[in-house]
Amino acid sequence: MGEGTKPGQERRRFRAIKGVRDILPPATDLWNWFEKTARGVMEAYNFHEIRLPIFEETELFARSIGVETDVVTKEMYTFADHGYWDLELVRIRIVNNPPGHWDGSVVQSYRTQVANLIDQCRMLIGAGEIPDTPANARALSELDLAVNAINSSIPPVGMGSTQFDASILQIVHYARSLKFGDVVTLRPEATASVARAYIEHGMQTLPGDQKLYYIGPMFRRERPQKGRYRQFYQIGAEVLGTSDAPAIDAELIEMLTVLIERCRIEKWTLLVNSIGCPDTPERKGCRPKYVERLREELRKVKDKLGADSQRRIDTNPLRVLDSKLPEEQAIIEKLPKISDFLCEDCRAHFEKLKQELKLRQVAFTEAPRLVRGLDYYMRTTFEITSPVLGAQNALCGGGRYDGLVELLGGPRGIKGIGFALGEDRFIDAIEEAKKIHATRPVDVFIAWMGEKAYPTAVRLARVLREEKHTVELPPEEMKFRKALERADKLGARYALIMGEDEIKTGELSIKRLADGKQEKISEDALVDYFRPKAGA
Ligand code: HAM
Repeated sequence: MGEGTKPGQERRRFRAIKGVRDILPPATDLWNWFEKTARGVMEAYNFHEIRLPIFEETELFARSIGVETDVVTKEMYTFADHGYWDLELVRIRIVNNPPGHWDGSVVQSYRTQVANLIDQCRMLIGAGEIPDTPANARALSELDLAVNAINSSIPPVGMGSTQFDASILQIVHYARSLKFGDVVTLRPEATASVARAYIEHGMQTLPGDQKLYYIGPMFRRERPQKGRYRQFYQIGAEVLGTSDAPAIDAELIEMLTVLIERCRIEKWTLLVNSIGCPDTPERKGCRPKYVERLREELRKVKDKLGADSQRRIDTNPLRVLDSKLPEEQAIIEKLPKISDFLCEDCRAHFEKLKQELKLRQVAFTEAPRLVRGLDYYMRTTFEITSPVLGAQNALCGGGRYDGLVELLGGPRGIKGIGFALGEDRFIDAIEEAKKIHATRPVDVFIAWMGEKAYPTAVRLARVLREEKHTVELPPEEMKFRKALERADKLGARYALIMGEDEIKTGELSIKRLADGKQEKISEDALVDYFRPKAGA
């Protein structure tokens, strides 16, 4: 047994859970370079950072992204946000283990569990710990009735099995509907949160369009593979306001391409499409007509489609278009295109977008099947793909979502467009292009020896760090030979050598590690020595 292991405790090593990973130095240097560069580009376009919560009410995502999407149906990390797990377990037991037949003692114990649950809930609602909602009040009073119905019939005088079954069903149903707190989800994306924050803080009253960006982790329970993680990182930008001018879409896309160029990624393609507009109370949209036609056509070829696509014919036929199954591609090729169904306004918007992109010299390819996997989009959709990424080839994606703010209970007439890029994938593409080297070297390694040298070493380390140099100061004395070996291994540019002799004479030795050139300088000249020389 190891020292830290208690009797009966197995010795085990922990690993990061499936689909999540550690990003270690020196890779983090490149990540930091990338984030700094992205901030620089977005700030040049006058975007401001918004910091958002990592989790939100589940319903926010379900409503925004769409209840039939893969993200919402299969991929969200959802949990109950309250401190009553003991009660939750009682509730789960009541829902999942109702007595199947009349058995006095089993029924009695079930009844007691339900009665206790009701009492505890009432107490916690009274103390303001559990939400005092109409749904909870109804559930508790129905549970009361059902439990009394069972109670009054032990032994089962006058209670037929139908009545017993009905009471149990009533208990199961209402125990299931009790809520001890919010149901929350780790964010699978951030557009919904941006829209929620925009509404919550009344940002429509601020002058001009709100141009916001965010950086951070997102969570989707997808099948992990290269470029696809369960915790991944996005940098996203959103523009919210009353205008839907195609110049906004084009500027946002231009900004992305500038970032790609800064990263010196060369192999990439910008795909653009318009997916039309939905029905609104004022007017019929062009997309529903297309969706209906698509559904008709898909029904004709249903037998040739895989199970997922077959199901989507009814639930969300547009999603069939971005199926990746090789055997479905030829069928998809022959399906009607949304571009042939766009209404006048959508067509004009898309034409103007293309002109705007040309004006900005942003090369693009029209992709009539690019529908994207989230329900909030309308009109413009786009993606940038790169062949260097393999199967998960989307570097970033985005589009217009003019109805989202209203759908989430916000003011009418607020339009939105945005994108999110996958940082994990950008980093892969930057590494693949091999043009950016962002490791951060040690500038000065202080090789000190002797108690008398130590205070000077500590003081000079601080002076150089104030000058923004990266300085490594060994915490314990090292022999000079060892210290220089360590400096070499760390890739340090200079070693500053100080032993008791140097302290006595006030002359320090500086060794340039690339070529071993060594010279002596006085302490006063040190700061100047490391300052970039004019013209250098
Ligand atoms: P999305 O297409 O779901 O869009 O994700 C955007 C990007 O995030 C993808 O192109 C990809 O690079 C990256 N990504 C997505 N899932 C993963 C994963 N499991 N592992 C690694 N990278 C991943 C959105 O999220 C929208 N909110 C974009 C948007 C903003 N639309 C309008 N505004």
